[in-house]
Amino acid sequence: MIKKIGLLFSLSGTIAVVGEGQLQAALLAIEEINQSSILQFEPITRDTKSDPVIAAKEAHDLTKEVGVDVLIGCYMSSERNALIPVLNQTGSLLIYPTLYEGEQLHPNIFYLGAVPNQQVEPLLSWAITNLSYNFVLVGSDYIYPRSTNSQVRQFLENVGGKILAEYYFPLGCEKFDYFFSDLNEMVHTQPGFVLFSTIVGTSVAHFYQEYKKNNIPFPILSPITSEREIRIMGIDAAQGHISTSPYFESIESEKNQKFVKMFTTKFGDQPISREMVSTYEAIHLLSLAYSKISSVPYSKEQKERVKIALKNTSFNGPRGKIIVDPTTQHLWQWSRIGKVNSKGELKSIWSSPGPIPPRHYLARVDQIIVSESRLNNPDPVVSLVGVDKIFLKGLNVARIAANTPASVLITGDTGTGKELVARFIHDASTRRNNSFIPISCSSIPGELLGSELFGYEEGAFTGAKRGGKIGFFEMANGGTLFLDEIGEMPIGQQPQLLRVVEEKKIYKLGGHKQISVDVRIIAASNKNLFTELGNLGSFRRDLYYRISVFHIELPRLCERGDDILILAGHFLALLNATNRKDKVLSKEVENILMMHNWPGNIRELSNAIEYAFYLSLDNIKILPDHLPQHVFSNIVNINNNCLVDERNHKTSIINNNFCDTKSNANPCERNAYFARITHNMKIKNMEEKAIRQSLDLTGFNISKSAFLLGMGRNTLYRRLKKYNLLPPLKS
Ligand code: ACM
Repeated sequence: MIKKIGLLFSLSGTIAVVGEGQLQAALLAIEEINQSSILQFEPITRDTKSDPVIAAKEAHDLTKEVGVDVLIGCYMSSERNALIPVLNQTGSLLIYPTLYEGEQLHPNIFYLGAVPNQQVEPLLSWAITNLSYNFVLVGSDYIYPRSTNSQVRQFLENVGGKILAEYYFPLGCEKFDYFFSDLNEMVHTQPGFVLFSTIVGTSVAHFYQEYKKNNIPFPILSPITSEREIRIMGIDAAQGHISTSPYFESIESEKNQKFVKMFTTKFGDQPISREMVSTYEAIHLLSLAYSKISSVPYSKEQKERVKIALKNTSFNGPRGKIIVDPTTQHLWQWSRIGKVNSKGELKSIWSSPGPIPPRHYLARVDQIIVSESRLNNPDPVVSLVGVDKIFLKGLNVARIAANTPASVLITGDTGTGKELVARFIHDASTRRNNSFIPISCSSIPGELLGSELFGYEEGAFTGAKRGGKIGFFEMANGGTLFLDEIGEMPIGQQPQLLRVVEEKKIYKLGGHKQISVDVRIIAASNKNLFTELGNLGSFRRDLYYRISVFHIELPRLCERGDDILILAGHFLALLNATNRKDKVLSKEVENILMMHNWPGNIRELSNAIEYAFYLSLDNIKILPDHLPQHVFSNIVNINNNCLVDERNHKTSIINNNFCDTKSNANPCERNAYFARITHNMKIKNMEEKAIRQSLDLTGFNISKSAFLLGMGRNTLYRRLKKYNLLPPLKS
């Protein structure tokens, strides 16, 4: 059986540094298969020239003219995306062997590269644990670096990290002068930082070489720099820098060593990167899929059959066994972090204990349709679960507001559940059978916000679509429009919104006809909008009062006390149900969860539980080691700054204002304080020792001790009695 397959790689242009290796890996796999099975692959190779337009043209030609069913290749996300119209039109499949931003689930694409939670997140977590909370982001200027960095921003926001600056360079750029002058200034003004690079192609070697020349004393961390670029830049420029990947050439498994030997025997001494291994795997997976359907005569539905066969295929290759997840068409992947050694090899310095499932980020404005379809399947990321009084009070206001047409403003930190409360209001209102449209005002550029909200007529501006466009207000007609991050709305745009809220009528851009809309507005902000009001403020007073008839303020997770464990249990139960497991949290994990400050709130907790759930593999009990590094090590770091002398119960505190014992310390600080004084204690003695230490610190002041411990005076008295800590009565 002869099967034509289309190989689409960049064999020229800025990406050729990877594309040439991918082609060699594909040809090696094809040779193996053709020598050992009746299936014979006939590769038809096209050079995409590092250009998405050429990639699409070649894909069209291969699928329409040559009759190829399956394409393998592409590196840049822009190339992959350019192929989508071709895949839609022809029903052909693409096996995409490159890491990417993970914001896509196309039915005709199989994604073999890592997505951010399998690579970028573990790397960031490792970096803030071991290096710095400060980051400078650099990338090539196209979709993958920009989308990845917006996720990096979200991740760092959740864990209290900081982005000092963000820079993008054109593809193929070789000069970075202005950037290095900025960076040198940062070296002198900042205590330290990590440079996170998503620069691709030929620019990578130039960038690292310049970095070396500038003697910047901090490492570069990258999810994309691989053995290919390292070989080009040279050991001197590469040594000490860090990359993450599911695969390193230096992996010492028998399978990998055999593969490396086979490859170098055929092609000479060449560095082997993750994309090359994924391409090799792609060909093998395809061969296995074809062998599953070989008994079925060729028919028009063959592409569908290949797709179904691919969904359940696994292959044991250079990086171990890979399995195609049938639902997402992505792989579960190992996460590894490697450092370049003195031989120029990426040597693993950290590895996940097992493969991590892919997680998707689909909540963007351009994916409204996906959000819509999730309406009947509420997002479990943030759940309305808990017993905290302030949280329940907010929920009660939401319940009352749902039965009225009035506007609602929800405020609270990122990850406190604002969108979920908005959905709750929508679902509990008479509008529940119409659309709930969530929009993030910060993700739409200011100049586009008007056309996105109100739509436009054909010819309204250069580049306007034929037939015009309907805006979010019209889409939400009869339902609810959730305007998240409303504080980011440009002040110039606010009068237009105010008028629509007051008059319930819109004009499309370039249109003269008034259109009536019946939309309930729920707005949300993580800023205190009230402080933004005023003549020089960034938010209009009149709009503020219009959108905040009801105001719900959601508490931070660290202020919700016992809700931390209630929510952790809730997320664990969801994961147990979905994965048919029966896992439990160990007591140590529960203590760590209670001690952590949760700057990313419920979303951070949900991610931490999910991470620990999968990393605990077959263990029933989730242990501290399974938690993300930054959650676990935060406690250890806090403890290192706080000397606990257990013999005489004295706590001396070094240089850390979290340890401030002022009675106006907020509950989050109290949590951290509690963390410090309890971490090194055996669990069974923890409460007693914490009480002893707080009494020592406060000079046996019951009110202050109760406050520090986060318990009422009466509870503390009961505990004092229980542990026999009450002072003898004076005679
Ligand atoms: C990429 O553009 N996905 C590397």
